[in-house]
Amino acid sequence: MLATVKPLCSNLPTPSTPYTRTAISLHWVIASLIFAAFPLGVYMHGLSLSPDKLRLFSYHKWMGITVLLVAVVRVAWRFTHRPPELPGNMAAWERFAAMLMHYLLYAIIFAIPLSGWIMSSATGLQTVWFGVLPLPDLVGRDKILGDYLLQVHQGLNIVLFALVVIHIAAALKHHLVEHDSVLLNMLPRLLRRGSASGPMTG
Ligand code: HEM
Repeated sequence: MLATVKPLCSNLPTPSTPYTRTAISLHWVIASLIFAAFPLGVYMHGLSLSPDKLRLFSYHKWMGITVLLVAVVRVAWRFTHRPPELPGNMAAWERFAAMLMHYLLYAIIFAIPLSGWIMSSATGLQTVWFGVLPLPDLVGRDKILGDYLLQVHQGLNIVLFALVVIHIAAALKHHLVEHDSVLLNMLPRLLRRGSASGPMTG
């Protein structure tokens, strides 16, 4: 019975302790690159072979490899900096779901670029980052493997799409329903103006 009684303060906003500028920048750089690489990938996949298609492939690959590099920095930052506390009124299952979602998102932002890089290697289209830095091919030329990895790349992107939808919905629920600081903590300072903000963490 007691367990079902909500604490009196459950609807009050928790004190805001935003992420550091670095963590916020890394989050939004990765998000922006994914929001660009995803539709570009869908668009270019449907084009017939032409110099334009190959140019778009290159842009897509440069963005994807950049996601991979920024993700390495982001994980290193995450391991060395504590993120803000979750609101005290979150149930145990919500905390577990939030943690699981974050692990899955981290895993997929590595898995997608790596699958793309290996796919490009297998199809014999070497990736030259921003046209200047040739990346080593991770596997030899292999058409069957290339076709298989295209399906893996597509499948992972469908999972990413679903995770991002849930991630955004959860962030909006925190902001619009719970009225806590979870979403605000990840917004750049400029967009957070007017809301209370405490010391920065992770
Ligand atoms: C987070 C980064 C990435 C995202 C979100 C992403 C997303 C996508 C999406 C949505 C597609 C279209 C799939 C379809 O409609 O069938 C695609 C295709 C493709 N991606 Fe990526 N990708 C990323 C990274 C990479 C990287 C790093 C490479 C290579 C170095 C790469 C190489 C390709 C290629 C070659 C295709 C087209 C395959 C084809 O049409 O034959 N991607 N990607």
